[in-house]
Amino acid sequence: MKKVHDVTATPLDVQPTPLALLLLGREADPKSERGVECPGDLPAASDPDLVERARAAKAKLGDKVFVLGHHYQRDEVIQFADVTGDSFKLARDAAARPQAEYIVFCGVHFMAESADILTRDDQQVVLPDLAAGCSMADMATAEQVAECWDVLTEAGVAQDTVPVSYMNSSADIKAFTGRHGGTICTSSNAKRALEWAFGQGEKVLFLPDQHLGRNTAVRDLGMSLDDCVVYNPHKPGGGLTAEQLRNAKMILWRGHCSVHGRFGLDSVADVRERIPGVNVLVHPECKHEVVAAADHVGSTEYIIKTLDAAPAGSAWAIGTELNLVRRLANAHPDKQIVFLDKTVCFCSTMNRIDLPHLVWALESLAEGNVVNRIRVDEETEHFAKLALERMLALP
Ligand code: 13P
Ligand code: SF4
Repeated sequence: MKKVHDVTATPLDVQPTPLALLLLGREADPKSERGVECPGDLPAASDPDLVERARAAKAKLGDKVFVLGHHYQRDEVIQFADVTGDSFKLARDAAARPQAEYIVFCGVHFMAESADILTRDDQQVVLPDLAAGCSMADMATAEQVAECWDVLTEAGVAQDTVPVSYMNSSADIKAFTGRHGGTICTSSNAKRALEWAFGQGEKVLFLPDQHLGRNTAVRDLGMSLDDCVVYNPHKPGGGLTAEQLRNAKMILWRGHCSVHGRFGLDSVADVRERIPGVNVLVHPECKHEVVAAADHVGSTEYIIKTLDAAPAGSAWAIGTELNLVRRLANAHPDKQIVFLDKTVCFCSTMNRIDLPHLVWALESLAEGNVVNRIRVDEETEHFAKLALERMLALP
């Protein structure tokens, strides 16, 4: 008989790592929300009434609920969003409905935290699945960043350095940024944020996405790659000498987006060969060589606007998350719109928010039961808000 290998059994001499347990949903990490299970009874994904149930619960809640949806969300979820947008637009819109008791955030954890920071204390922010985190945001912890600041202080450069943190970071990192006179940025205002920061100090510590930091510094501010160094939180002193830190203008945190990191120069060369005349349009979270080889670069909102304005018959290869690219291809049947990579590439954490979780969250709220509330503590909120408000006030 054929021998069956039981992949669920754990051999006695091999223990799963803590990370493997988290990914299997068998442990929880309160700092990153990895592995958190939904506390209630989720409706079955096969329930044919899910759309109707979501509609009914939302109608029952009326003005009490405001649903925000990031462009990377699934179609089944985005259809229930009152507003859709990129990270910047959603941060601005979060406070746009002061009458709404509940803000349901269809996006990832750092976005829901920012919404909690920017809304009134009595408005409750709900993330339909607590496991919807962001692997990039998890690449910079408060302890690592505090240690990095000590390294910069010892090298004698901290007083000349202004932190600029990407929206894709935890509330702790945003609070660190606010405490040290820095600002938050998103992919749509990173250039303005860096210009502002270089008006305040000589150097920028850019957290946590090295690619957005490098791309903005080199492409938009005309710096050279040599002006940038990469701080590796897993190496003593970040893997940099005091001299390297003193000579650098941009100190980039060693973080990246695993979704955008998939696009390589080979994807660009391949699509240019397959579709002559194609316009390559990528998100600035892509690697520098990909951004340098692209025709257009910008945030999700920029990508949408560029395709809206593109002439019929034009061809586009898009380097960003697949839910958005598919939606754009469906919305523009008169244009050829393809995904930049040959391999399917969704953001797995954005995809955690599905219709069953949304129905569960809305029905619970309609019954007066607040589930999966995202709350930032008062002190963190105070300093994180400083940094977020600096971003919202950028010219
Ligand atoms: P934007 O929506 O700001 O373009 O960001 C993309 C992203 O990766 C969000 O997680
Ligand atoms: Fe994070 Fe990348 Fe997913 Fe955005 S696309 S939420 S940066 S992992």
